[in-house]
Amino acid sequence: MQTTPHWSLEQLPDMDGAQFRQWQALLETRTGVCVSEQRRAYLQTSLGARMRELGIRDYQAYYDHVTRGISGALEWSALVEWLTVRETSFMRHRASFDCVARFLDQRRAADDQRPAQFWSVGCASGEEAYSLAIIMEQSLAANGHERRDYGVWATDISQHALDQARAGCYSARRLGGLTDAERGQWFEQLQDGQYRVTPALRDRVCFTRLNILELAQAPIRDLDIIFCQNLLIYFRRWRRRDLLNQLATRLAPGGMLVIGPGEIMDWNNPLLERVPDERVQAYRRRNSMECLE
Ligand SMILES: C[S@@+](CC[C@H](N)C(=O)[O-])C[C@H]1O[C@@H](n2cnc3c(N)ncnc32)[C@H](O)[C@@H]1O
Repeated sequence: MQTTPHWSLEQLPDMDGAQFRQWQALLETRTGVCVSEQRRAYLQTSLGARMRELGIRDYQAYYDHVTRGISGALEWSALVEWLTVRETSFMRHRASFDCVARFLDQRRAADDQRPAQFWSVGCASGEEAYSLAIIMEQSLAANGHERRDYGVWATDISQHALDQARAGCYSARRLGGLTDAERGQWFEQLQDGQYRVTPALRDRVCFTRLNILELAQAPIRDLDIIFCQNLLIYFRRWRRRDLLNQLATRLAPGGMLVIGPGEIMDWNNPLLERVPDERVQAYRRRNSMECLE
C-alpha cells in the first residue's frame, strides 16, 4: 500500500457508523478493549493521529492494510500504541498498596519464608510495579530482614510503555503519589530534572510483553500478589469475569488478587474469599484444604 509518511495537519473526515463498528470490533477482538459509542471521538482521534502520520485519509484503506499480511501485523503493533490508555501513577490507589503491606505483615507473622512473587498486570510505564517493590522493601526493612527474596513480574501490551518502564525515568509530576521519604530513598535525580528508579529496585522487576487475552500462554504462576487495576474497566463484563477466573488460578494458596475498587460487582470465585476491607477490592485464595470443606 502506498503511503506518504509525513505529518499532515489536515482534518480527517468523520468515521461513519459502519467504519466505527468495524474498527471497534477489530480493537476488541485483538485487545479486549471495548470502545463504547460515547467514546467514538476517542477512537477516531487516536486512529486519525496514526493515519495522519502515515499520510492515509481513508479508514477503509487503512483497515485493509492493518488486517493483511506481515506488514499489517507490524502496523498493528504500531497502532496499538495510539489506541491504549496508559494513564498511571505511583501508589495510584494507596489503600490497595496498604492492603498489600498488611498481607506481607501477616505472611511474616506466619513465618512464611518462601520468596514472594508479585505480578502487575497491565503495568503501563511501570509505576505500579515499582510501587509494589517499594512496599515489599518497606516490609522487609520494618522487620529487619536481610534476605531479599522477591520478584515482580510486570506485563503490558504496549511495547512503548514497557520501554519507558525499563528505563525507569520519570518527571517529578509523575512521582506525586509517593511520600518524600519514598522519593528520597528509591529515586536519584538526574541532571535534566527527571528521577530515575534506583538499580536496587529496578533489578527486582521483570517487564515483559503480554496481551492479557493470551493469558493462557503466560508461564507466570504461583503468585503471592496479583495486582490488576484500571485494565479490565475497558473490557466487557463477561470478559472481565473470565480473565479474573483465570488470574485466580495463578495465585499460590493464600495469595491475594487486588483489582481496582468497583471494577467488577457481580463476580465471585470458589477459589477465593473477599478481603474484608471496604476501601479495597481484594480477594485471598483459599488454601486447598479450605476448598474441600
Ligand atoms: C490505564 S493503564 C493502567 C495502569 C496501571 N495498572 C494503573 O492502574 O495505574 C491500562 C494499561 O493496560 C494496557 N492494556 C490494554 N489492553 C491490554 C491487553 N489486552 N493486554 C495487556 N495490557 C493491556 C494498556 O497498554 C495500559 O498500559
